[in-house]
Amino acid sequence: MAKQFEVGIFKPKGGGIPVADIRIDAGTDVNDIPKIITGVTGNSDLMKSLGLKGCPACKSGLDFRIRELYDNVVGVGVLLNPSLDSGLDSLSGAVDFAPVIPDRLWRAIDGPDAYCRLAGAWDMTRRAKARARLPLHAIGLSVGSADPLDDRYLTEILDLVQELDSPWWSDHLATVRVGNHEVDSPGVALPVVYDKDTLDSLIARVGRIVDRSAKPFLLENPAAFVEYPEQDFDEPEFLNRLCEAAGCGVLLDLHNLICNVRNLGTDPLRYLSRLDLNRVLEVHVAGGLDMYGFWSDAHFGPADAATLELLPIVVRGATHLRCVTFEFHEARAAQATSAGAEIVV
Ligand SMILES: [Fe+2]
Repeated sequence: MAKQFEVGIFKPKGGGIPVADIRIDAGTDVNDIPKIITGVTGNSDLMKSLGLKGCPACKSGLDFRIRELYDNVVGVGVLLNPSLDSGLDSLSGAVDFAPVIPDRLWRAIDGPDAYCRLAGAWDMTRRAKARARLPLHAIGLSVGSADPLDDRYLTEILDLVQELDSPWWSDHLATVRVGNHEVDSPGVALPVVYDKDTLDSLIARVGRIVDRSAKPFLLENPAAFVEYPEQDFDEPEFLNRLCEAAGCGVLLDLHNLICNVRNLGTDPLRYLSRLDLNRVLEVHVAGGLDMYGFWSDAHFGPADAATLELLPIVVRGATHLRCVTFEFHEARAAQATSAGAEIVV
């Protein structure tokens, strides 16, 4: 039997029988494929949730498309946000991944009810799960903070990873909290200092996260407005050392890199040549905004040419790349979907 397989089900845009897109790992015996198909059509809960009648014996109800998992397949992702709610059906077949920000599924308050789920956001997430894989993209871990990890937050995230069967999860190489309370937030994600002390501290901190996680954990490169002086490493070397020692992967945000090109003068090709691209499982592309002379990671409309020009370099070099995700803010859905999504998809 296949060691791993993934199933996505979508309805063709022109109508007709729904398609089950089954991805198997490369070592699968072809004789096992009928068993996988029977497992899908015989899953009465799944078929019922899709409004279909399946027959395991005659394998009716779905057309099947079989392809290899991972090998030469880079999926397309769109960060799930409320503007996609009414168009979730159109995700089917168009995107493979819809990364979810778990922090937006919960009440934005402190205290015992902080992790109560918001009904609307959770309903949208469940419906998205029937159409795409859902990696988690957290924003509250505050990896760069010096205070102890928020154990309850991490536990909630890891439970969600299990519940949503997320293939991986991520957060940012940044500090979003100073002290134990979010009220002490600096108001923006601050990059960490790339020096030896911070590296040692983060290797231990990220190592604890990786040890507890059953799925790969990725760190996203940050967008910055200023550069700290007298650092020991540049960002690619810091990320390489941290990921190697802590056992995590990289979520490479190409627009964040472009922010740093425009704000700090970073050389993007040198950056990509120094980063260990083998660690990259996911790439972000997005649009930004000039704000008082700084380029902001505002997720404002489509990704620009400077960002997209870097994409082929990464796709060629990142041997384990699974997904390219387009991030846009729901307030800019019209601009993003009329231009950016077409470019990405
Ligand atoms: Fe990003």
